[in-house]
Amino acid sequence: MDPGVKQTSAVTRRDFLIMALSLAGVFSAAGLLAPIVRYAFPRAKAEVAARVRVGSTSQVKPLAESLDFEYQETPCSLLQLEDGTYVGLSRVCTHLGCIITWEPDNTRFFCPCHAGVFSPTGEVLAGPPPSPLPTLKVILEGEDIWVEGWNPA
Ligand code: FES
Repeated sequence: MDPGVKQTSAVTRRDFLIMALSLAGVFSAAGLLAPIVRYAFPRAKAEVAARVRVGSTSQVKPLAESLDFEYQETPCSLLQLEDGTYVGLSRVCTHLGCIITWEPDNTRFFCPCHAGVFSPTGEVLAGPPPSPLPTLKVILEGEDIWVEGWNPA
């Protein structure tokens, strides 16, 4: 090897630093842009209509106590109406998301946060809630009561 010729590596320290900083910039930009892209192009939520057994017909009486349960991580209630049919609905208030409670003595759902009132079928009767409660598809099989998916709004 000629002592006057300085040996250089294929990638200089300067080139390496430029590449490393460029990569860091690209990852930072991607991290900042990802939420914006996700917001602009939301993925359709996969609607999985899981079937869940709520209880038995012997557990409910018309407009009496509700059967409370969770469906897809949403607090829900099941009621039997006066005509003997069943309604399953979300207990999450459509105003600001407080949990409503069934009041059998007043035959209504009541939201304690801002005095929202819903009918046994989830219609808004009073207060600030802007829309009815989402309802579930209720299926009867013998004495078993099941819910399977949300009804379209
Ligand atoms: S959160 Fe229910 S009425 Fe406001």
